[in-house]
Amino acid sequence: MRERLAVDGGAPVRATMLPYGHQVVDDADIKAVADVLRSQWLTTGPALAEYEAAFAQRVGAAHAVAVSSGTAALHAAAHAAGIGPKDEAITSPITFAATANCVLYCGGRVAFADVQPETCNLDPEQIGRQIAERTKAILAVHYAGQPCDMHAIHAVAERHNLVVIEDAAHALGASYDGRNVGTLGQLAAFSTHPVKHITTGEGGMVTTNDDALAYKLRVFRNHGIADDAHTRAKRGDWRYDMTDLGYNYRMADVLAALGKSQLTKLDAWLARRRAIARRFDDAFASLGQLELIPVRPDRESARHFYPVRLNLERLRVGRADVFRALRAEGIGVNVHYIPVYWHPHYQKLGYPKGLCPEAEAQYERLITLPLWAGMTDRDAEDVIAATRKVLAAYAAG
Ligand SMILES: Cc1ncc(COP(=O)(O)O)c(C=O)c1O
Repeated sequence: MRERLAVDGGAPVRATMLPYGHQVVDDADIKAVADVLRSQWLTTGPALAEYEAAFAQRVGAAHAVAVSSGTAALHAAAHAAGIGPKDEAITSPITFAATANCVLYCGGRVAFADVQPETCNLDPEQIGRQIAERTKAILAVHYAGQPCDMHAIHAVAERHNLVVIEDAAHALGASYDGRNVGTLGQLAAFSTHPVKHITTGEGGMVTTNDDALAYKLRVFRNHGIADDAHTRAKRGDWRYDMTDLGYNYRMADVLAALGKSQLTKLDAWLARRRAIARRFDDAFASLGQLELIPVRPDRESARHFYPVRLNLERLRVGRADVFRALRAEGIGVNVHYIPVYWHPHYQKLGYPKGLCPEAEAQYERLITLPLWAGMTDRDAEDVIAATRKVLAAYAAG
């Protein structure tokens, strides 16, 4: 006999809600933050320089420039790439709105290219179809941590002289054809929001191998002023020039200390995320009501979250019912993402529904299961048990 679902009054798989993503913070992290709080310098200073150096080294990029959020990282990258009011940038609709918003911040226009059905990543062929006279850049989002087809994306970019920016918010620690995410374009933007691979509460990072771009990023995050206060204090000078319009996107040393401490655990956390993902892959491979998102053999995913597709024709309910039932079982499912141009702001800008049919079709079936480094084996088993229970109860026929 089938178990009664929690949503119908049965006993839930879990008594407490397992979030889809969550930070892991230990005593060493807390000590690193406390040490800075006890020091003389709280904002952008020595701890930030150390964090940036460690991040650049881990990614294998010449420069890492820390900023106050992943969104600020995208804005700084779009600015450094030279996107302006006459320009267009191409990105995926299956992403967080910030990926597209950064183009609008620079006064540019966003062109959405459709995704590959297998990976939900940008389809290089579809990028080709969106190229226009004013196209300046491609924003390649590594969805759920799986790198995009970067060789094909670079081939398009080179043909049309475009800048490639990685939106690497999901992909710290991922690699493609033996190269790390963060070095696969001219610029890469990372986020250190608490659900990401490492956290600074709020925070972001831009990596680049280009000295001139790194300089632009540093000036942009500091109001358009080349020297930060720490450098000026060391020099003992009051003079500074604001050479360009910038923002206060600085990261405080208090948070940078947390980032540097978190970074020392990244490899262990990636291994844990990948082990849980493998366990899910094995458990769900034979479930007819689900379709997994495979990781292609020439790349390693950073496994930011674990999205699956529902085979709706094999279910007698829709995605919203599956979502509600899993949450009632204590599994904090989510959906990534509503196509960006469906949001009212983009609708006001005139993007028609139906623009990217594959992305829209994928969105209707996507559901994100919990995956983060601090999940226990028991947590992972709960996700598997609840998913099996709900899908068995709702199976068609
Ligand atoms: C793909 C993507 N890009 C950018 C961002 C923005 O990062 P933040 O929240 O740190 O501003 C996010 C955040 O969730 C994201 O998922």
